Amino acid sequence: MKNVLVTGGTGYIGSHTAVELIKSGYGVVIIDNLCNSDPSVIDSIEKITGVRPVFYEADLRNRAAIDNLFRHEKIDSVLHFAGLKAVGESVELPLKYYENNISGTINLLESVAEHGIKKIVFSSSATVYGDPDRVPITEDCSLHPTNPYGMTKMMCEQIMTDMQHAIPDTAVTLLRYFNPIGAHESGLIGEKPNGIPNNLMPRIIRVARGEAEAITVFGRDYPTPDGTGVRDYIHVCDLAEGHVKALENMETGGVRIYNLGTGKGCSVLEIITEFENASGIKIKTLDCPRRSGDIAVCYADPSKACRELGWKANRTLADMCASSWNYAKNY
Ligand code: NAD
Ligand code: UFG
Repeated sequence: MKNVLVTGGTGYIGSHTAVELIKSGYGVVIIDNLCNSDPSVIDSIEKITGVRPVFYEADLRNRAAIDNLFRHEKIDSVLHFAGLKAVGESVELPLKYYENNISGTINLLESVAEHGIKKIVFSSSATVYGDPDRVPITEDCSLHPTNPYGMTKMMCEQIMTDMQHAIPDTAVTLLRYFNPIGAHESGLIGEKPNGIPNNLMPRIIRVARGEAEAITVFGRDYPTPDGTGVRDYIHVCDLAEGHVKALENMETGGVRIYNLGTGKGCSVLEIITEFENASGIKIKTLDCPRRSGDIAVCYADPSKACRELGWKANRTLADMCASSWNYAKNY
């Protein structure tokens, strides 16, 4: 059995990917410092799959802890999810983001190189495109992130690319996710934000759960069909499947870059309506000015991933909203 190290594997996307990996016959080893997740996720993964992943509670900035893991586990490839991800916080606390995301990645790569591991997949983000040259966004669009979080993603992409050039038989895949929402159909794992969330779906859920009065709609005056911002929302389980496909296509060295999105843009008001239909709950809205730093429209051209990985997002917006609510109504 091939073993995959999943950094950040108790987090939102990492846990769904761990489930998909186990379903596909991989052994899963998780490392996470639990700064934004809960150890009960390991139990949930076991409940869903019948297999308990090996878990190391450790920080990627602790090189000795990573080396210790590689000495004890036979690892074939690494999926690197661990990192901090809140755009607003990264503007307030840039050094925290550079320190965690860059130092953690460098430590991990040093250890990966030392232990002769040749396959690494990195969680990048559509945020690296900043205000995109054009939509749909292709992988060759220029990169100009507009916040420290996005800068850490672009820098980690560069660091991994340089490392691959120095060790040419290493295979590096950079996956640029668009807007992941949704949860596993079991309702046992999903996105559980710490504190007050910034992203649209967790904020809609706060309203549905009665924790907030209304959802703020940031801008009704964008040049879009209904005036609200358009994004490419992708089901987290489709994203998880994308990682398995990426792993299956890493037999030779090189750097590969893929957008993981649906290719379809959806407005804030459309998401709210879909959520209302899925949950049967009316979501009150409050029109607000545009949020600083937001762009009007962002959606992927995912055709490269389809062509080269044989991957395509299949789940609908209705699936995404229903599964988000199925998870969130219980937590
Ligand atoms: P998450 O916060 O749910 O998961 C990240 C996990 O990493 C958490 O469990 C956290 O405890 C862990 N972690 C953070 N720093 C660590 C460190 N130094 N050492 C060990 N563990 C550490 O986030 P997510 O939504 O699952 O995102 C996973 C990855 O995907 C991140 O790199 C994120 O930047 C990227 N991404 C997320 C989105 C999104 O909207 N969710 C979009 C694009 C890219
Ligand atoms: N929005 C609202 N009200 C809210 C929250 C969001 O109207 O209360 C709107 C935003 O203005 C935007 C859309 O909903 O038009 C989506 O906003 P999110 O905050 O959910 O997502 P973003 O597209 O701004 O950014 C997210 C992540 C980034 C990542 C990017 C692409 O936060 O880290 O998706 O993957 F880079």
